Amino acid sequence: MPSALSGTLSYIKNFLRDQDVAAIAPSSSFLVRRVCKWIDFDRDQVIVEYGPGNGVFSEYILDRMTAGSTLLLIESNPEFVKMLEEMTAGDPRVAVVEDRAERIVDILQAHEIDAVDYIVSGIPFSFLDDDTKHTLLARTRDVLAKRGKFLVYQNYNHLEAPLREHFSEVTKEYEPRNIPPTMFAYEARK
Ligand SMILES: C[S@@+](CC[C@H](N)C(=O)[O-])C[C@H]1O[C@@H](n2cnc3c(N)ncnc32)[C@H](O)[C@@H]1O
Repeated sequence: MPSALSGTLSYIKNFLRDQDVAAIAPSSSFLVRRVCKWIDFDRDQVIVEYGPGNGVFSEYILDRMTAGSTLLLIESNPEFVKMLEEMTAGDPRVAVVEDRAERIVDILQAHEIDAVDYIVSGIPFSFLDDDTKHTLLARTRDVLAKRGKFLVYQNYNHLEAPLREHFSEVTKEYEPRNIPPTMFAYEARK
């Protein structure tokens, strides 16, 4: 795992080159803990992460998930993909995929995964047009297991209404200890 300084420098570099990176610093440990408290780490789980970046959530999840769990990381930025591959090398529980979250159905099929217990997402939904956003939310709900959860964090509260359209129950929390201090976290149940 990169140090806090090198992690932030890699964000700034990638932020300047790729607008989808959408952040100048990785998520804070406060945000990571707030989101991941919704995951039951006592059981084997299939977990997917959309937009892991340099892996702050991935590392926290890998440290806690069981030997029988699976973590599938879907990241569109090739530099972050390289960092994630290095970070997770040799861990048989992980697969890193350079692709877009919008292709979740095909990606799961390629990995022979039928249903997902948790999808954790930090991709900037505000950058997606309405059609793409609703299609991705519908696909995300569809690939979740019956008791599956979509755990998503976003700047500002723009995603609450769309989440409520697609998920049966949505819990929202605000996390100010982050750069920027405008983060909302949601636990959305299928
Ligand atoms: C705001 S950063 C969050 C990174 C990391 N999860 C964190 O919390 O520090 C968004 C990440 O999502 C990736 N990304 C953006 N759009 C994506 C998409 N459609 N599919 C997969 N990854 C995407 C970006 O390259 C970037 O790594």
